[in-house]
Amino acid sequence: MKKIHASITAVGSYLPEQVLSNNDLEKMVDTNNEWIITRTGIKERRILNKGIGVSFMAIQAAKSILENKNINPLEIDMVIVATITPDMHATATAAYVASEIGANNAFGYDLNAACSGFLFGMSTASAYIESGRYKKILLIGADKMSSIVDYTDRNTCIIFGDGAGVVLLEPNQQGMGVQDEYLRTNGIGRNFLRIESGGSQMPTNLETVKNKKHFIYQDGQNVFKHAVSKMADASEEIMKRNSLTNIDVNYLIAHQANKRIIDATATRMGIVDDKVLMNIESYGNTTAATIPLILSDYESKLKKEDKIIFAAFGAGFTWGAMYLKWGYNS
Ligand code: UT7
Repeated sequence: MKKIHASITAVGSYLPEQVLSNNDLEKMVDTNNEWIITRTGIKERRILNKGIGVSFMAIQAAKSILENKNINPLEIDMVIVATITPDMHATATAAYVASEIGANNAFGYDLNAACSGFLFGMSTASAYIESGRYKKILLIGADKMSSIVDYTDRNTCIIFGDGAGVVLLEPNQQGMGVQDEYLRTNGIGRNFLRIESGGSQMPTNLETVKNKKHFIYQDGQNVFKHAVSKMADASEEIMKRNSLTNIDVNYLIAHQANKRIIDATATRMGIVDDKVLMNIESYGNTTAATIPLILSDYESKLKKEDKIIFAAFGAGFTWGAMYLKWGYNS
C-alpha cells in the first residue's frame, strides 16, 4: 500500500471588519506610520469587537470551508484550535467550535504553541491522518490578540491583530501533503515573550491587574534576534534534509510577525521575493492565524504539486519549518 500523507484539501478564513490603521495608532501611543511600516511592514490590522470570543472567528472560518466544499459536518473526525486567546481558560474552545458547526461526531482540543501553533497543529493532525486513524481534520489557527494587548504599550500594540484561518486535512496516497517537519522548543523564551498573570504561577488579583500583568509583554529585540536565526535555521535544515534547492521551492509561507524576519529567512534560503507570500501589511501578526490566512488569501495561486515551506517562530520559544506538496488546483 502506498504511504498515506496528510494533504490540505480546503482552506478558509474569517477577518473582523473593523480596521485599526497605523494612523489610528498614532493617536493612541507615541509612534508613527513611517516607523511602523519600516520596522515591521504593517499598515493595518483587524480588530474583533469587545465581548466576542475567538470562537466567533473560528466558527465563521470553519463554516466557510464546510459551505464552500459542501462537506457534511458529521464527517469531521477532529477539530483542533491553535490559539493563545481561547474563549475561556478552563474549557476548550475547540469543543464549542465543533458543536457550533455541527461536527457532532468529532472530538477536539486547543493547542497552545503561540505563533507556531498552526505549524505544531499541522504536525499533530498529519500524524493522526498518516496513521490511518482519522480521515477529516479541521485545523484552525485563531487569535483575538486585541484581548491581551495593552493599547498604551507601543512595543506590542503596533504588531498584533485579530483573525482566524482554517484548513481541512485528508489522506492522500499520491504523494501530496506533508513531507517532512523540523520543530523545536526552548523554554528560555518565557523570559522575553509572555503573559505573566492568569496562570497557576501568578493567579489574577487586583495587584496583577493594576500592574498590567494580564497583558502580553514582549522584549522585541531579543525575540527578533531569536526569530531571525531560528526560523532561518529551521527552513535551511528542512531544505537540506529534502535535497531542495531555492529553485525547487515554489513558495515560502512564513509566520507574519515582522517583514524583516521573513525577508531574512528568505534571504538565507536564497528564495526570491515573488516566492515569498505575505499579507502582514493588511492584518499584522495574528499569531496562530497567520499561516492559514496566507493560504486562504493565496489559494488561487497555489497549484497541485507546488513545493511549499512553512516556517514559524513564537512564544515559548517555539519554532520550526515544514515541507509539503500542495494537493489541489482551486
Ligand atoms: O510573533 C511572535 C514573535 N514576535 C516577533 O517575532 C516580534 C519580534 N520583534 C520585532 O518585530 C521588533 O523587535 C519590534 C517591531 C517589536 C520592534 O522593532 P525594533 O526594530 O526591534 O525596535 P527596538 O525595540 O530596537 O527600538 C528601536 C527604537 C527605540 O528608540 P531608541 O532607543 O533607538 O531611541 C525604541 O524606543 O525605536 C523605538 N520604538 C518605537 N518608535 C516608534 C520602539 N517601538 C516604537 C514604536 N514607534 N512603536
